[in-house]
Amino acid sequence: NIQGIIFDLDGVLTDTAEYHYQAWQRLADEEGIPFNRQANEALRGISRRASLMLIIGDRRYSEVQIQEMMERKNDYYVELIQRITPKDLLPGAVSLLDDLRQAGLKIALGSASKNARVVVEKLGIIDKLDAIADGYSVQKPKPAPDLFLFAAQQLGLPATQCVVFEDAAAGIDAALAAGMWAVGMGPPERVGTAHIVLPSLAGVTWENLQGKFRDIAL
Ligand code: G6P
Ligand code: MG
Repeated sequence: NIQGIIFDLDGVLTDTAEYHYQAWQRLADEEGIPFNRQANEALRGISRRASLMLIIGDRRYSEVQIQEMMERKNDYYVELIQRITPKDLLPGAVSLLDDLRQAGLKIALGSASKNARVVVEKLGIIDKLDAIADGYSVQKPKPAPDLFLFAAQQLGLPATQCVVFEDAAAGIDAALAAGMWAVGMGPPERVGTAHIVLPSLAGVTWENLQGKFRDIAL
């Protein structure tokens, strides 16, 4: 009996991953650390600090330097997301949000980003969300279930009645750890542990989702 849907932001509703990548690349270049688009793939859905740790590898930096680099990357990212408009929504996102609301479901955002609120405002979808769980909501990042549990609590729903849409392996793990239904967006190599795997939101409706959940004997 599904009552609530929780959407990750990056890679599900929009592609801010590109802007995260550009900001990290600029920082890495300034620091003389080798980094590229391919290395960035490992950062999908990973927290700011964990991303920086993967970039610096075994290079040694003090906590003060680490903090400064996280801030610098964020400054670059904040600059880049100013140009986001509703055109940056991924195909199918708005029609699915509208369809879900029409069907009486509650909708939350479940993003680890501290910039999530600005991004959904720029995308023009803030009025389509009943709750926002973002990088300020909980301490423990995905794959811990905390962020999604917080989102469900904001919606006033038990975890078992919530579905999470996620594009990152860490996010699918978080949804499953929360005891929620998981829809993985992208290749099965990445999100194959989800209950349902979809290539994108294009053409997805509440009716065809319900059908898929019925197939897996909900
Ligand atoms: C999301 C993104 C990650 C990002 C994280 C923290 O999970 O997918 O790429 O590192 O949020 O975002 P923030 O904007 O707070 O640095
Ligand atoms: Mg994501």
